Amino acid sequence: MAVPFFSIHHSYNDAAQKSLLARWQRILEHGGFVNGPEVRELEADLAEFLDVPEVVCCSNGSDALVLALRAADIGPGDEVLVPAFTFFASAGAVSRCGATPVFVDIDPATFCIDPADAVAKITPQTKACMAVHLYGYPVDILALAQTLENAAGRPIPVVEDAAQAIGAAHASGPVGGMGISAGWSLFPTKNLGAPGDAGFATSMDKDVADHMRRLREHGGGRQYYHDEVGYNFRMDSLVAAGVLELLPRLVEFNAARRVGAEHYRELMTAAGLNHVIVLPPEHPGHVYHQFVIRAEQRNALKDFLHAREIGCAVYYPLALHLQPCFQDLGGKAGDLPHSEAATANVLALPIYPGVTASQREELVAAVVEFYAQVSAAQ
Ligand SMILES: Cc1ncc(COP(=O)(O)O)c(C=O)c1O
Repeated sequence: MAVPFFSIHHSYNDAAQKSLLARWQRILEHGGFVNGPEVRELEADLAEFLDVPEVVCCSNGSDALVLALRAADIGPGDEVLVPAFTFFASAGAVSRCGATPVFVDIDPATFCIDPADAVAKITPQTKACMAVHLYGYPVDILALAQTLENAAGRPIPVVEDAAQAIGAAHASGPVGGMGISAGWSLFPTKNLGAPGDAGFATSMDKDVADHMRRLREHGGGRQYYHDEVGYNFRMDSLVAAGVLELLPRLVEFNAARRVGAEHYRELMTAAGLNHVIVLPPEHPGHVYHQFVIRAEQRNALKDFLHAREIGCAVYYPLALHLQPCFQDLGGKAGDLPHSEAATANVLALPIYPGVTASQREELVAAVVEFYAQVSAAQ
């Protein structure tokens, strides 16, 4: 049985497709294709779901991070602390604002930013810190902000990259509401996936959010009058309609991901794989955008699974301080050992809500077979 790495057919099932076609029909009738009524409805629904007062829908998660940073007053001459092990956009957004990403190592236990290394990278130019809730694991933003402030002797605002973490929560509160601003992605593969590119930014502060709203529309509060240079980061109504369709089922989707994660843990532990595999960090507020193991002989295991049509993927194969586009910042191999080690051994397994128990069993049986072959060959 093939095990796809990802499929939209569980979320966009027959009932959802039918209802979405009816929503699209209404959009064709009212004609408000861009930032239309569906976008405003989505902003209200997301604000309620996330328990944040301000939601600014936009074109995608990468642009949402630019809004979140610009609204936090990040610009040329500023340094922003960014984990080196994350999706490119976390750091790309900093550069797009004209600021400099300063790469920080990760805590190997959580894959998220290491507060101690962040402290070590603070300079007088440090203007903010980007915390990424990687794979859906909730970073303790309040503790991070306190640690940074204690070390710097001044507040260092934390901007949250919550692209992978919709619905995740820390004991101190849901993600996305504890920093100065947050950027989120609704890319189709995310826990809440749009039928196209989409994202949004959030803030607890109305002034920050109003600034993001202006930046979304070329930096103007009034049409054709521009206080600053902004962007066209508007959201399409057709795309917003798909998100409106799925949002009421997000709690169910995230619960299914947790069930899948628990099942993988049980299967792998029962199979005695713990000497060759490290299971992902556990947290009650984790939403498992990805279920990422660390695996010995990762690349060979990946090829073995692919040969059996079992999906798996590497997020991410090259740390950001080693990316060609950031070489002028002087990063070199060995600088951030935990980030570099993760790139060599992480492997994401299928975790979208439609994965069945028997598919997980098949996957784990294949992993057991792979390591049996490896040890037989030694
Ligand atoms: C951690 C992280 N940040 C930012 C983004 C950017 O989101 P988008 O692809 O919607 O631009 C993503 C999406 O993959 C992501 O995973």
